[in-house]
Amino acid sequence: MRQETTIRRGIEKIRLGHYPTPLVRLETISRETGLHFYIKRDDLCGVAFGGNKVRKLEYLLAHAKAKGFDTILTAGGAQSNHALLTAACCGKLGLDALLLLKKRGVTEAKGNLLLASLLKTPVRFIDTDSYAEVYAQAETIMDDLRAGGKNPWLIPVGGSVPLGALGYLDAAEEIASQAGEQGFPVDHILCCSGSGGTHAGLLLGAKKLGARVTGIVVSVEENFQEEIYRLTLETAQLAGIDPGIRLEDVVLKAYIGPGYARPSEEGDAAIRFMAEKEGIFLDPVYTGKAFAGFLDLCAQGFFAPGEHVVFVHTGGGPAIFALYP
Ligand SMILES: Cc1ncc(COP(=O)(O)O)c(C=O)c1O
Repeated sequence: MRQETTIRRGIEKIRLGHYPTPLVRLETISRETGLHFYIKRDDLCGVAFGGNKVRKLEYLLAHAKAKGFDTILTAGGAQSNHALLTAACCGKLGLDALLLLKKRGVTEAKGNLLLASLLKTPVRFIDTDSYAEVYAQAETIMDDLRAGGKNPWLIPVGGSVPLGALGYLDAAEEIASQAGEQGFPVDHILCCSGSGGTHAGLLLGAKKLGARVTGIVVSVEENFQEEIYRLTLETAQLAGIDPGIRLEDVVLKAYIGPGYARPSEEGDAAIRFMAEKEGIFLDPVYTGKAFAGFLDLCAQGFFAPGEHVVFVHTGGGPAIFALYP
């Protein structure tokens, strides 16, 4: 199928998902928290089991196609949502994908690895905790692919480079337009911050809305605030807009629990709460912990009563089938 290509801010973008995704008010959670609570359903974007990576891939893979790359290598954790969605989107565009994943956590054919096997996407594992080692290995694989006559391109972990983050600048504009149509002001946007591209794009777009953005951190990162700040500035430069963001505008709250990709008690309770009250499933690695963080921030009085909060459901559903027995 031929994918529609558009130009935004002078940059090519290829349609992979179904946008706009729904922006929905959740009545029970609004009532129970004393806020106006909305969920942005990027899990319903229509590729695989959905998720935030598709907006990034619309820019990244448009670039890959335009430059004539034929093979996409990307990396991540063993159950990486980004890697699986890259494979699914590559398939739609007739590109080959190859995934380099850390041999940590759930490495059997469950969750996203089961989906990767259904896509027949080759997966290589690397037994390390260090992304420096992952990237060194990726370079070796790139050399091998070139030697085999391929023209490969490496998408960094999470697609969190300025080109990818543009997808979430678009998402913030989409939220602004939907909130305008529904007649409410967006005071606050909450998302999960993993590799930072979602947060950076939203932060840039939220400025025009006058909304604050809070990122819930679910893995241990050093200098993450500076990293997201730098990515926000670089994304603004690429988009040709004035960032107008200060370092302190990058607000992060950590709800890691026992560790990255290890379910937390609070996250599990938050997943059950959302599922029971609203029939929406969050995931144990990212969105469940992010929603648990939101509930804890409510209890701490972080939001003013009656504020309008948009929680971005960034996907991740396949992890339910990998991490729960
Ligand atoms: C389901 C899900 N939510 C949130 C995130 C975090 O997004 P980002 O990497 O842009 O910070 C990820 C990243 O892997 C993810 O898979």
